[in-house]
Amino acid sequence: MAEMTLRSEAAIGSTHERPGDPCVMVIFGASGDLTKRLLMPAIYNLACDGLLPHCFALIGTARNDMTHDSFRDQMSKDIRQFTTRDFNEPLWDEFVRNLYYLPGSFDDPDAYQRLAQLLAEVDAKHQTRGNRLFYLAVPPTVFSLIAHQLGRVGLAREEQGWSRLIVEKPFGHDRESAHNLNRELQEQWQEHQIWRIDHYLGKETVQNILAFRFANGIFEPLWNRRYVDHVQLTVAEKVGVEGRGNYYERSGVLRDMMQNHMFQMLAYVAMEPPNSFRADDIRNKKVEVLGAVHPVTPENVLTHTVRGQYSGGTMDGNIVLGYREEPDVAKDSRTETFAAVKLFIDNWRWHGVPFYLRSGKRLPSRRTEIAIQFKHAPEVLFRDTPVERLDANQLLLQIQPEQGIELAFEAKVPGPLMHLQTVRMHFEYQEAFHAARGTGYETLLYDCLSNDATLFSRSDLVDTAWKIAQPILDVWTSLPPRDFPNYPAGTSGPKDADQLIERDGRQWRRI
Ligand SMILES: NC(=O)c1ccc[n+]([C@@H]2O[C@H](COP(=O)([O-])OP(=O)(O)OC[C@H]3O[C@@H](n4cnc5c(N)ncnc54)[C@H](OP(=O)(O)O)[C@@H]3O)[C@@H](O)[C@H]2O)c1
Repeated sequence: MAEMTLRSEAAIGSTHERPGDPCVMVIFGASGDLTKRLLMPAIYNLACDGLLPHCFALIGTARNDMTHDSFRDQMSKDIRQFTTRDFNEPLWDEFVRNLYYLPGSFDDPDAYQRLAQLLAEVDAKHQTRGNRLFYLAVPPTVFSLIAHQLGRVGLAREEQGWSRLIVEKPFGHDRESAHNLNRELQEQWQEHQIWRIDHYLGKETVQNILAFRFANGIFEPLWNRRYVDHVQLTVAEKVGVEGRGNYYERSGVLRDMMQNHMFQMLAYVAMEPPNSFRADDIRNKKVEVLGAVHPVTPENVLTHTVRGQYSGGTMDGNIVLGYREEPDVAKDSRTETFAAVKLFIDNWRWHGVPFYLRSGKRLPSRRTEIAIQFKHAPEVLFRDTPVERLDANQLLLQIQPEQGIELAFEAKVPGPLMHLQTVRMHFEYQEAFHAARGTGYETLLYDCLSNDATLFSRSDLVDTAWKIAQPILDVWTSLPPRDFPNYPAGTSGPKDADQLIERDGRQWRRI
């Protein structure tokens, strides 16, 4: 059977699999959490799979006073702790020789001169043809500073090879700051050089939404307002803020989860079929569908959204703190740790179909899923039978930690009488493919090295997503919550969230 290419010709898993372009990758924030827990393990996994360029080197930079050797030692220690695979000692020993370190503060202009010099040396030594990938694994407050300084010393220019800049999330704090950040980045960098990352899109299960919808003839005809009753997107976390109170106080779940990851998933579920898997064809369709989301008016915010904050509670038999008792969190914090939102998409496919999104911390289980609930079958046939009600069919796309697809339908219980029971057809990724576990960053890094921007956000997509979220943030800011905290840790969110969906005669799936 022919293999299908989900992304462009260079996609992993296609018959055209090949290592990315030669390059030097520079990680700003090389002493940080993201680097050790996700980036390095992802790069190592690419090396294990033969997908890292043959000519590849990496320069880490941060304020810590490390040498090349002590950086290599540190990374060698970290990789053993955070690798997602069995550790391949000889491969790592060879790989680690390609690592370099440059100490420096991001606000020191001289540090960028030194970086340019080291890059030239490393480029010549590893024959990376002038290709450079800069990864901003740093706090968002320094994104534009670094981008500007790189441009100032000529590192954004694409004279000998390409030069790309990966920008981490969050991209902006609101619509205006995202707009400003785009403008500041674009002063020195062209749009095709800016790669805005959303690691959710690196997940196989998210990418599979497109394959599932568009490679299977049986689902696409049902994927519209005629057959779909509503859609539920859930990102539930069991954890609290895990010592990141400082960051979370300035963020909240709407910014941290919904405006980026969840709106991206919504776009995949609801977009029109693109003509090809080329980056811009897909991104155009995503912008189009998010642009069709009915604007949330201030009145709608009161009726279509719910926010919450957890108090202390019991989870798995352990007592856990309330949000306001967490370190670095204000005692009267108004930051939401839970949000539920009802959105409509104003186009022919989805007119009148509600999309319910909810996400929160300290919920009873960890789960990311998309449930497509189909319309009920008419009950006339079952009127004179013992069947009291017909449950609607539901298609469940499980993103994490379970990774699979499930279709729920009604079946007759064996016996002389007509009794029905909901049964489930289940596909599980791990069982079907036995894929090695990754971090989610492998695909994204590989794509960037291979110049495939499909999974990265263009500036108009970022703006469109903020346009949906901004009116909610505005109303929430001007009307401080009066009932916070309003759900105990370990429960499935505030009561108002249940009412949001129950008012429409529907119910959340259990978390
Ligand atoms: N961690 C995750 O799981 C995760 C997931 C998704 C996205 N992100 C995003 O990734 C980015 C980095 O997150 P992180 O968790 O790795 O943060 P982190 O642990 O705080 O690391 C930040 C890094 O930036 C360096 N840094 C900060 N200010 C600097 C300055 N003025 N000059 C030089 N170096 C400076 C720090 O170096 P020093 O050690 O010298 O301070 C450190 O290496 C953030 O934008 C975050 O939102 C993180």
